Amino acid sequence: MARVQLSDLRKSFGQVQVIKGLDLDIADGEFVVFVGPSGCGKSTTLRIIAGLEDATSGAIRLDGRDVTRTRPADRGIAMVFQSYALFPHMTVADNIGFGLQLQKQDRALISRRVAEVAETLHLTPLLTRYPRELSGGQRQRVAIGRAIIRNPRVFLFDEPLSNLDAALRVQMRLEIARLHQGLGATMVYVTHDQVEAMTLADRIVVFNDGRIEQVGSPMDLYEHPENRFVAGFIGAPAMNFLPVRVLGTQLEVPGMATIPVPPGKEAATELGIRPEHLHVVDGLSADLSGEVELIERLGAETYAYVRVPGLPLDLTVRLPGETALRARSSIALKIDWTRAKWFNASGRVL
Ligand SMILES: Nc1ncnc2c1ncn2[C@@H]1O[C@H](COP(=O)(O)OP(=O)(O)OP(=O)(O)O)[C@@H](O)[C@H]1O
Ligand SMILES: [Mg+2]
Repeated sequence: MARVQLSDLRKSFGQVQVIKGLDLDIADGEFVVFVGPSGCGKSTTLRIIAGLEDATSGAIRLDGRDVTRTRPADRGIAMVFQSYALFPHMTVADNIGFGLQLQKQDRALISRRVAEVAETLHLTPLLTRYPRELSGGQRQRVAIGRAIIRNPRVFLFDEPLSNLDAALRVQMRLEIARLHQGLGATMVYVTHDQVEAMTLADRIVVFNDGRIEQVGSPMDLYEHPENRFVAGFIGAPAMNFLPVRVLGTQLEVPGMATIPVPPGKEAATELGIRPEHLHVVDGLSADLSGEVELIERLGAETYAYVRVPGLPLDLTVRLPGETALRARSSIALKIDWTRAKWFNASGRVL
């Protein structure tokens, strides 16, 4: 179990800087999730923490000890990848025990540890099988078992569930949460899946172009994004952004009647409203009205994409599962102003 500290971490490949100064303090036993667009540096950061990649500058500390130049094997860190990379010619038991065999551990100790790990991951009945005889979820559990057996101080997961089907992802997500509770180990987890990020994380780190945009608890990032990037990245479907113009004491939103500028929002250039904070009302009390372009029914909920005359983009509206609305229906919407976010020209939340 360990605290992980990154200080002014940077990484360049040739002339190109891809990690541009990261500072992050991960508490002992914490579950931290990295999210961000493709290519923003999540995997590279994990690989630097693991020691698979050298930092160009900056430092990594484990429990206060500088390990920036320490060999990967001596860091006590285990990494689980998206591709499980199991040894095809070895049984589940041998795959799990391989790390200890490399360390020339005692045979009896290895079989005892393999049995324990298999029990934790519900792999006991599968120990004599080969990887080709396993489902994707079972293979992923073997890969996790291979990591657990070394008793690492820190687990790094790089999109470990992205190859699994939806039902298995949910099951493995719960197992990873349970594993974290059971082991109490520090975990750093990369995902593109909003639900995984929101449900697993003690804290989410939002990356963008080699930098950290914001760090916070899932609900903190959802309720209090500091900028437009985080506001747009956290939450699915994404927040709607409407251009606004302040004229003296009045505020213009295209498609809407002019309203007084809310206090403190004099510098606003954009208004952000989440799909769940737009409510269908009768025409009289509406802030905006338009026509439904497209309806997506997901069962428990429905998304409507609404064209509002004057607005450059369709609005996404979250509706209950059963709704009479259909494409080309007229729709009137009320904004939950208490949840609205205002952004200035540089994208900061006002
Ligand atoms: N070995 C390398 N040589 C050169 N550039 C690299 C190398 N590895 C990664 N990069 C670049 O560094 C940047 C960050 O890559 P990284 O794999 O960390 O992104 P990521 O956030 O994990 O993206 P994804 O979500 O697609 O996995 C990318 O622009 C990538 O092209
Ligand atoms: Mg990656």
